[in-house]
Amino acid sequence: MKDIEIVAKIKVCNYNELTDEQKSVVDAAKKATLRAYAPYSNYFVGAAVLLDNGEIVSGSNQENAAYPSGICAERTTLFYAGSQYPDGKVCKMAIVARSNGEITEEICAPCGACRQVILESEHRAGAPIELMLCGREQIYLFQGIRAILPFAFDMESLKKPVP
Ligand code: THU
Repeated sequence: MKDIEIVAKIKVCNYNELTDEQKSVVDAAKKATLRAYAPYSNYFVGAAVLLDNGEIVSGSNQENAAYPSGICAERTTLFYAGSQYPDGKVCKMAIVARSNGEITEEICAPCGACRQVILESEHRAGAPIELMLCGREQIYLFQGIRAILPFAFDMESLKKPVP
């Protein structure tokens, strides 16, 4: 028997330590929280991605009275980006949540399904995506979703090329 240790390298920083480019992605995600449709949870999430063509695409969570029919901000954003820019590569992504009118103190971390979709976007981009999970003061910054998605299921797991 042996142990496997999983280590994630995450930088904890604040907004002022970001580059101008990183700030614009975070700003777009913050703005997107204002467009969330979240009357059931009152948890308003915004996500934004920077593509290799310089475009910033943002999205928000969209809920539904039939709860499972809603979708998270991250998937709204990545699916929109993928459908508008099928050849676009996602380079950076920021995620922010607002509750009771304020950016949440805690960082907003993507759910499991969104982590899986982010992994697919990394595959499409051919490189890890820089992720910025934002709270009111702190931002968790790291390269690649695998840091928080160990033992990921990906196309390698299928052992055959996806058409
Ligand atoms: N949600 C997101 O949009 N992204 C996350 O990272 C966490 C959760 C949404 C789903 C649902 O509309 C609400 O937040 C509460 O779970």
